[in-house]
Amino acid sequence: MNKLLTMACVLFTFLFTSCIASEKHYTLTSPNDNLILETGIIDGRPYYSIKRGNEKIIDTSFLGFTFADGAFNNNFRVTGTNLSSFDETWIQPWGEDIEVRNNYNELILNLQELNGKKRKMSIIFRLFNDGAGFRYVFPEQKELSDFVIMDEETEYNLPFDAQAWTIPTNGTKYYEALYTKSSMSAKDTVCTPVTLEVNDSLFITLHEANLTDYAGLNLRVKSHDHSLESNVKLITSLTPWSTGEKVFAAAPFASPWRTIIIADKPGDLLLSRLMLNLNDPCVIEDTSWITPGRYIGIWWGMHMEKYTWHQGEKHGATTENTKRYIDFAAKHGFNGVLVEGWNLGWEGDWTAKGNEFSFTHSYPDYDMYYLADYAKQKGVRLIGHHETGGSALNYEQQLDSAFALCNELDIQAVKTGYVNPMLDHKELQHSQYGIRHYRKVVETAAKYKIMIDNHEPAMPSGLQRTYPNLMTQEGVRGQEYNAWCPDGGNPPSHTCIIPFTRGLAGPMDFTPGIFNFSNTAYPGTRPQTTLAKQLALSVILFSPLQMAADMIENYENQSAFSFITSCPTTWSKTIVPHAKIGEYIAIARKSRYSDDWFIGSITADEARTMELQLDFLDENCSYKATIYADGKDADYKNNPYSINIETIEVNANNTLNLYLAPSGGAAISIEKM
Ligand code: NOJ
Repeated sequence: MNKLLTMACVLFTFLFTSCIASEKHYTLTSPNDNLILETGIIDGRPYYSIKRGNEKIIDTSFLGFTFADGAFNNNFRVTGTNLSSFDETWIQPWGEDIEVRNNYNELILNLQELNGKKRKMSIIFRLFNDGAGFRYVFPEQKELSDFVIMDEETEYNLPFDAQAWTIPTNGTKYYEALYTKSSMSAKDTVCTPVTLEVNDSLFITLHEANLTDYAGLNLRVKSHDHSLESNVKLITSLTPWSTGEKVFAAAPFASPWRTIIIADKPGDLLLSRLMLNLNDPCVIEDTSWITPGRYIGIWWGMHMEKYTWHQGEKHGATTENTKRYIDFAAKHGFNGVLVEGWNLGWEGDWTAKGNEFSFTHSYPDYDMYYLADYAKQKGVRLIGHHETGGSALNYEQQLDSAFALCNELDIQAVKTGYVNPMLDHKELQHSQYGIRHYRKVVETAAKYKIMIDNHEPAMPSGLQRTYPNLMTQEGVRGQEYNAWCPDGGNPPSHTCIIPFTRGLAGPMDFTPGIFNFSNTAYPGTRPQTTLAKQLALSVILFSPLQMAADMIENYENQSAFSFITSCPTTWSKTIVPHAKIGEYIAIARKSRYSDDWFIGSITADEARTMELQLDFLDENCSYKATIYADGKDADYKNNPYSINIETIEVNANNTLNLYLAPSGGAAISIEKM
């Protein structure tokens, strides 16, 4: 860890631009001077605006709240400011890069109401080279011990009407929806991350960081505000409790950070670590037990209706079947086997009666103690599965005993699930209720040294920096939709969009790697990709725990399988050579374990040839590249399995011309010789 500068030095411009009775303005610049944030008060109302050079990014936007006892958004005076600068580089135990630079200039604006209760609030602004973050802080004070936030009124006044990729807040369960592109002004209320393409050199993503005891963020499009010459005004819309309140708080208290990534090109959005930097440093002292890796699972078989979760003739999680998976994992070097449907409670509509799930009792045909020994002998770890059916309380009551059992069985990772639109039939996943529950699970898991893969989560916000045992989360329309969704599966553009939207919120458990597209249970539904694209997704869609999703029999004797078994899930460096949101993307990642590189390139419906310069390889070194690319006759609709696998010698001066078929891709491993 390299701590370069501390909070003490102030190296940036801080301009006190005017001071009349009701107005005070301050200017903060990013470390490289490219971004300029202005803040202060206008008529007693706190505001901010952001420019990139002379270009307006966010026009004057007001900040504040409505509390249960009235407005907390005006009548303020500035009581003081605090300036600092920060620059350090920290190491990720796993991730897309090993080193993360956290470099920002900070301005704290201290405010107090002019009259009435004279309550205090501070707003902390941090300006990075790649965007901004700000949060509200409520210091301890007599007049604000307990308070209830009915609305957060943070505005984002966009001086343009950009194209935006979003999913709607209402009617979207667990963020499992297709992102649509349309003018921001035409949207209603949307989930964050929201990604805007303003022009060829301006891409913006709005989201949040460090959501730990608050309500999840949504953005509502408000009407055109002529007075500010802005085109689209977005306003914060927090996820409510069932009783209508948004947040119950007690000072001292801090809101999550509101984040604004500002990038010249789409690929740079993916390289921003601003959200992680706005989370607290790791609190787990010894992280050696946190082990990324690739796993297989008794999983796709259930979604294809070959197996059932509940016991009976087609029960997937039997002792025999699990042994088969353990043997396969041992043979092919996977370090985990997920077993779904091992525990009591899956009969009937389990989504409606999650209270019946036991996380300590297995079905009689699943011998958990025998299998724990068997897996140990084979050097494989079983991955636990805790589907709660949304019964958070039932799960919380069993958390300690369930994790203690995992310890006993040498299970180090657990996939949790919450398939019910409401937690405990009442509260939304991304309400403060849900946020508190998920955090409790991650913290308790850390005590038991358990890694978590959370399905049906609240939208991630970077908590994995603090708790790196929070490995990955769903919150995305994943591979399972290619098993049973009546619309036929995820369209070809889907995986060219989610890296720039949901993917910016953190690792996605999408589960790539289906090799057999036939589907007797739901004819017509299948991966809308070529086989080579399925391989490439293992690189494109970052997840430190990643499943090779197909049934193991579908991997037997498949030469393309070697890409999956060789591809790591944690990286020392990531670059994005090509990207156009919704159309194509290429990502190159350097392994954490060696000098080898892995590349994924994918396209949506349109076939294309992608030129890939290998100038990121070390100079004067030779590498062996194994290229898994679409055959010339490949086509996701009619000929998805056509794949060419070739091995060539390459170096940093070479350029590869990769043919990508309609909804096709290329996956490449580059081994240093
Ligand atoms: C939904 C999850 O996304 C899926 O992976 C899991 O198999 C089912 N719930 C059952 O828990």
